[in-house]
Amino acid sequence: MKTALVTGANRGIGYAIAKGLRADHRVIIGARDPKAGRAAAQELDCDWVHLDLEDPDTFAPALTKADGVDVLINNAGVLIETSLMENPQGFETSLQVMLHGPYHLIGACRLHMEAMGWGRIVNVSSDWGSFASGLEGPGAYGVAKAALNALTHALPRDLPPFIKVNAMCPGWVNTRMGGSLAPRTPEEGADTALWLARLPEDGPTGRFFRDREPLAW
Ligand SMILES: NC(=O)c1ccc[n+]([C@@H]2O[C@H](COP(=O)([O-])OP(=O)(O)OC[C@H]3O[C@@H](n4cnc5c(N)ncnc54)[C@H](OP(=O)(O)O)[C@@H]3O)[C@@H](O)[C@H]2O)c1
Repeated sequence: MKTALVTGANRGIGYAIAKGLRADHRVIIGARDPKAGRAAAQELDCDWVHLDLEDPDTFAPALTKADGVDVLINNAGVLIETSLMENPQGFETSLQVMLHGPYHLIGACRLHMEAMGWGRIVNVSSDWGSFASGLEGPGAYGVAKAALNALTHALPRDLPPFIKVNAMCPGWVNTRMGGSLAPRTPEEGADTALWLARLPEDGPTGRFFRDREPLAW
């Protein structure tokens, strides 16, 4: 059974992704709050690791505990809506959680994936980080997601073809981030990530999707 690590999986879309992967994966919930991570893992009957995307010191212990990640879902995200220029700390945090953290986790997980000759990486992004859609994400959010998209686009050049890395937009989802007016359930938001996590050998890499369909960068 393959091992899947989902970051920020104690609630929202990450939780739904973890739930959806349970049938055919050993699922590990990544959570920055140990209490929330433990509770979610208990509900889903899976493992959890302490993983704070703002604290790189948590990465190595979490990955040691995971003992080989075949499927990495970079889901954790923060939406800091204050002005780009007036909140430099918000800019740093956004980039740390949604770009630097994912980059370093990919770097660490690829060693096992290369040894196994198989790997799947899903970057949970947003159309708010799409230039084609107007890069509408407020504050640093759109910049961070656009950078995550750029990372997704560039990485296949430096990864073996059996490691597939793709980005996806879940749509507008009813979570703490999306708010209660959002029309999609977390399960609906998770669907494309679950599909990308299980791509066959001839599946796409370095692409951006929503509802299992290509989305323009
Ligand atoms: N909801 C939408 O409409 C929507 C639309 C487009 C894209 N997305 C993307 O989908 C992903 C999931 O969003 P969501 O709607 O499920 O949001 P959410 O309900 O706010 O959940 C965010 C998750 O990320 C975790 N997180 C935040 N900062 C973290 C850090 N430093 N280290 C580890 N975990 C951290 C949170 O942990 P805590 O519980 O500890 O805060 C939580 O588990 C995000 O990448 C988001 O940008 C969402």
